[in-house]
Amino acid sequence: MADLRQEICRRRTFAIISHPDAGKTTLTEKLLLYGGAIQLAGAVKGKASARHAVSDWMELEKQRGISITSSVMQFEYDGYCINILDTPGHQDFSEDTYRTLMAADSAVMVIDAAKGIEPQTRKLFKVCAMRHIPIFTFINKLDRDARSPYELTEQLETEFGIGTYPMNWPIGSGKDFKGVYDRATGKILSFGEAHRGTSRIQATEYALDDTQALDELIGPTLRQTLETDVELLDGAGYDFDLEQVRQGQLSPVFFGSALTNFGVEPFLKSFLEITTPPLPRKAAEGVVDPFEDSFSAFVFKIQANMNKAHRDRIAFMRICSGKFERDREYYHVQGGKTLRLAQPQQMMAESRQVIDEAYAGDIIGVFDPGLFAIGDTVCTKAHKVTYEGIPTFAPEIFAAVERVDTMKRKQFEKGMTEIAQEGAIQIFHIPGGGLEEVIVGVVGILQLEVLEYRLKSEYGVDVRRRSLPYQFVRWVENKDMDLSRLNLGTDSRWVQDFKGNDLLVFGGQWAIRWAEEKNPGLILREFKEN
Ligand code: G4P
Repeated sequence: MADLRQEICRRRTFAIISHPDAGKTTLTEKLLLYGGAIQLAGAVKGKASARHAVSDWMELEKQRGISITSSVMQFEYDGYCINILDTPGHQDFSEDTYRTLMAADSAVMVIDAAKGIEPQTRKLFKVCAMRHIPIFTFINKLDRDARSPYELTEQLETEFGIGTYPMNWPIGSGKDFKGVYDRATGKILSFGEAHRGTSRIQATEYALDDTQALDELIGPTLRQTLETDVELLDGAGYDFDLEQVRQGQLSPVFFGSALTNFGVEPFLKSFLEITTPPLPRKAAEGVVDPFEDSFSAFVFKIQANMNKAHRDRIAFMRICSGKFERDREYYHVQGGKTLRLAQPQQMMAESRQVIDEAYAGDIIGVFDPGLFAIGDTVCTKAHKVTYEGIPTFAPEIFAAVERVDTMKRKQFEKGMTEIAQEGAIQIFHIPGGGLEEVIVGVVGILQLEVLEYRLKSEYGVDVRRRSLPYQFVRWVENKDMDLSRLNLGTDSRWVQDFKGNDLLVFGGQWAIRWAEEKNPGLILREFKEN
């Protein structure tokens, strides 16, 4: 099975995360450009969909393939087989974003050098930290005025509680951006006018001790600053420790400018060397090694095809071990059934294609006739494993949704339940109440707009939506507590999800503290491990 090991060893599966506008799309494009997966930058599909809210989204519905394509991209570079998982960072921020991170072995965090850490970077980082996956930082837009690199790395350390190891160090920024000092080689890569284009660029290299050349290149002031910086970095910074990187405790930091291509290829090369091949995964039966012969995978995302004529769904699976073969029978653990996966597809940069085989680390999409739920495991019948479920993340936006036409009860209930099963929204109800009015929880407002749109277009139901003042939800761990007698503050409420789990929703942090103080013994959890 030498080729199985070889194939898996050369796989790198990672997610790119960022706050909107930090440059995630641009960096992804440039990575694809270097991988030869696209001819010209500017071709990453789905950018328009990532950009804008529901009107564009509805338009896009007709070409649903586009946004599916954009969610996973596979390409080859330097002998590596790379799977990039896209995490929407815009208004369509949703639970999908969190779940996608569950399928990655590492994350690249793009930060705007003028802005530093922003709110969505924080949220996404939290999920990566929960999984202890390696986090690489690309500090972008050095061709614009930027904060000091010291300030930026310090912010990462203090806010995220991780160490940072700058792999390179910027020389100036904005109009004065002269390039970066590469710490591994001790060379300076110079940034020039040629970088304003979008083609592949080989930066010119200079040695740090070539004082004369450097004085000409960056001027004596910047040269002296650089010398001091390098001394400081080598003397006072963290040491590079691969083990710590792999544990997610030390983040290698790269400075560059994705738009001008500067620093992108050195980043890619170094990233591929440092980041891990597919990692072992926890299952109920024990830890599963990716190099095991038998195939196993878990579903991390289900995307309903918006084509009304077909109403099909695609389940995205991350392969965790072994090799997938198209015509073999596999076992769906939660359904307890043997099946052949229909039309297994892999997403390339610009298209998707039916595949015959795929390896641990890869992501495949299969048609789902309604069998799968998020977190399900597919494996061989002979080697049954059950992967740990994907946690349910706490929604932050709540609305009460009811149907306008009281006659449409069945369609309303069916639509709400099916859309919730896909994992596109979370639904709750008041204990003892029916489905007359459903409380919907989401992490991004676009999810609510999409829900309304889909209820109407797919189920023929018009709904009314009312915002609710809740922002936090906590799962109640206690099994033997009479929740109807809880002492809760205003803007707090007891609800249940449709699996019958008890939850409390709160209008603010203070209300959570109140509930905990006034109800001794009450145990609340922020994530629900499924
Ligand atoms: P996102 O996916 O993280 O939301 O960011 P995206 O790549 O779309 O980049 C946001 C904006 O920042 C874009 O400009 C993009 O061109 C610009 N940008 C990205 N990287 C760099 C960089 O290294 N330097 C500079 N100066 N700008 C960068 P836009 O005007 O909003 O969009 P567009 O009209 O260029 O597409």
